[in-house]
Amino acid sequence: MKNGTCWLDEAGRPIQAHGGMITRFGKKWYWYGEDKGAPNALLPDGSVSRRVDVIGVSCYSSDDLHSWRREGLALAGQQAGYLAPENVCERPKVIYSVATGKYVMWFHCDRGDYTLASAGCAVADRPEGPFTLIRVLPPNRRDCRDMTLFEDPVSGGAYLIHSGDWNKTLYLSELDASRTEFTGKCVAILPEQEREAPAMCYQDGMYYLFTSGCTGWAPNPALYAASPRLDGVFRLIDNPCQGPRFRTTFDGQSACIFRDGERHYLLLDHWQPTHLRDSGYSILPLEIQNGALQVTWRDEF
Ligand code: GAL
Repeated sequence: MKNGTCWLDEAGRPIQAHGGMITRFGKKWYWYGEDKGAPNALLPDGSVSRRVDVIGVSCYSSDDLHSWRREGLALAGQQAGYLAPENVCERPKVIYSVATGKYVMWFHCDRGDYTLASAGCAVADRPEGPFTLIRVLPPNRRDCRDMTLFEDPVSGGAYLIHSGDWNKTLYLSELDASRTEFTGKCVAILPEQEREAPAMCYQDGMYYLFTSGCTGWAPNPALYAASPRLDGVFRLIDNPCQGPRFRTTFDGQSACIFRDGERHYLLLDHWQPTHLRDSGYSILPLEIQNGALQVTWRDEF
């Protein structure tokens, strides 16, 4: 697959899984993301907006991370309510709750003007869905825009990591065993740094947090932060990108980090603001050595 381009599914249709997450359940890979498979909405004056009306969260499955089968909409948009077309449903992530046997999806749920800034939670019996929206709330009374989920391989705990305080601070909000409720533990892990698009991983005693700056769809330099404690304050270290266009994260933005065996991989979105449905993807291996993280551009995944 050619990095930076919009990939096709098994049926030859563009993969609509933006701002997404690749994860494994059982023997299969699943890719969830924003379905933006429609033209950008038009503004009242007839010009093109920088949004696509909510369609829902799509799900794709794969045995090998290269050939993806569309499983349909895992969480479908609705005519009214939080998932109505004029709203925002971004950065969906899914984890499994051993305690309840349910698959739990969290996503950034918002109004079209981004002033609701909440987290939406939906559950399903199967990874493909259908997911049912159970609630929308500001986690621990904080606003929530860009977000991710992280399952700590050390403690087995799960966390919603979200940009709060108008994107000024990244918070870690702990989930309970059902993965649908917060325990009340909430820590500012990256205070006052204005970072978004969080993606987390763990290796050899260190947690790494990959983020972008806050410039909307426009690419900017990535930065990574690290901490030996998940609930500590992370230290911002450097731009981990190497190669052409390293200053703009290869013209991309982090969507998630996933692990295949011993390797971690970064999934990037390459946003096309005026025709979002054509936005591309990249998957790049992360190199982690002696507490330092690097990601080098490759033309192919
Ligand atoms: C970006 C964010 C995207 C989307 C976009 C809208 O900063 O990472 O998920 O919200 O802004 O402009």
